[in-house]
Amino acid sequence: MTLKQILTEPNKILREKSLKVNQVDEDLQKLMNDMLETMYAAPGIGLAAIQVGVLKRVIVLDIAPKDKPKNPMCFVNPEIISKSENISTYEEGCLSLPGQFAEIDRPDKCYIKYLDYYGQLKEIEAYGMLATCIQHEIDHLEGILFIDHLSKLKKTMITKKLSKQKKAIERIVV
Ligand code: NI
Repeated sequence: MTLKQILTEPNKILREKSLKVNQVDEDLQKLMNDMLETMYAAPGIGLAAIQVGVLKRVIVLDIAPKDKPKNPMCFVNPEIISKSENISTYEEGCLSLPGQFAEIDRPDKCYIKYLDYYGQLKEIEAYGMLATCIQHEIDHLEGILFIDHLSKLKKTMITKKLSKQKKAIERIVV
């Protein structure tokens, strides 16, 4: 397995739309393995292929509590079939927006159709944290980041903070 580099805002690739996967083959499984390894190492609980620069509709998640065994989940071509009207709010972060967090409202339940690691068609009803994570990752496949759900003012504050962080890192390297 290979650790991949995670792209961060304002990298323009993060704004691209990911393409549907035609076939779940060995190469795609290798990508999913690498994504899981990269996600665990970050550490994070979800990662979309676009975040490692691959424009394919693939996401990986593991929302198991830290003291419980790992529970890796892979979703290929995930589609939201229906969403609840009820909303839940979580404080979200993103590996592509390091150190930034904000409370985001999303439907608290959604029904998802996808292909699993072996290319089998599956459906799940996700609720709570899993529903939020899947929606956050599916947003990535559309080029949407969680800050896009915030007011313009809050979004500007976060993007400014991120560009400052970047400058600080460059100074140290020089
Ligand atoms: Ni994210």
